[in-house]
Amino acid sequence: MLTGGPHVRTRRCPAGTLASIGREMSPDVRKPGQVRYLVFSASLREASLNTQLATLAATTIEARGAQVDRASMADFDAPSFNADMLRDNGPPSGAREFNRRLLASDAFVIASPEYNASMPGVLKNAIDWVSRFDPQPFNERHGLLLSASPSMVGGNRGLWSLRIPFEHLGARIYPDMFSLAQAHRALNPDGRISDEQLQRRFEENINNFMDLVEASKHYPCIKRAWIEYLGEHPDPEVERVQAMEVSAR
Ligand SMILES: Cc1cc2nc3c(=O)[nH]c(=O)nc-3n(C[C@H](O)[C@H](O)[C@H](O)COP(=O)(O)O)c2cc1C
Repeated sequence: MLTGGPHVRTRRCPAGTLASIGREMSPDVRKPGQVRYLVFSASLREASLNTQLATLAATTIEARGAQVDRASMADFDAPSFNADMLRDNGPPSGAREFNRRLLASDAFVIASPEYNASMPGVLKNAIDWVSRFDPQPFNERHGLLLSASPSMVGGNRGLWSLRIPFEHLGARIYPDMFSLAQAHRALNPDGRISDEQLQRRFEENINNFMDLVEASKHYPCIKRAWIEYLGEHPDPEVERVQAMEVSAR
């Protein structure tokens, strides 16, 4: 699978099961109708502020009755991407795990540190590995980006950089991102944001995202085909995403 080519995405609706997902999931992973979120922090640090924010997001999602798969960046850790390694040995176990858990989820939430005004290398490396799977699991999967930093901008620049590979891969990254500034002082010992107004805004952000994901899961007929790179001819050889059948997940 190469990147950057023109393509047409098609949706058939209604449709049968998504065979490719079935191959990767154990049958008991998903309860029909229940929305499932993969939530993790992109920090490997034990006392991570982003892990605290990811935990708060997971708790907020669960409070609304959705299912959360809480993961950690360590679950998806992999050697630096090397196409020779991929050719000779296939994807490493961390990448396979990331792919499996994405496919088992309807949407993902990542709380990511900002490193040097960009995303952490460990997360970009994991994205690069997973981008080689076919079907490519970020395609049309909804994502919400969060960040926490001691700085005054809360790591928000890192999230803008993170949008680029995700959107390139066809992920539906929610427009509203949440960045917690001065995070080392902003969280209570119970894990909530001390400023009540900010805590409410955080919950609202999560709830609005969940509304979209639920609508997308339960009303797949609203999805449509669209064409990117107008003026270029679709060519299956260079598509970065595949036309795929969709069921009411
Ligand atoms: C290599 C490195 C680069 C960093 N660059 C930034 C930065 O550009 N902006 C920022 O707000 N914080 C930056 N920080 C500070 C991190 O935001 C801070 O260490 C944060 O607590 C890391 O997230 P964590 O607590 O989830 O591990 C940087 C930290 C490191 C180690």
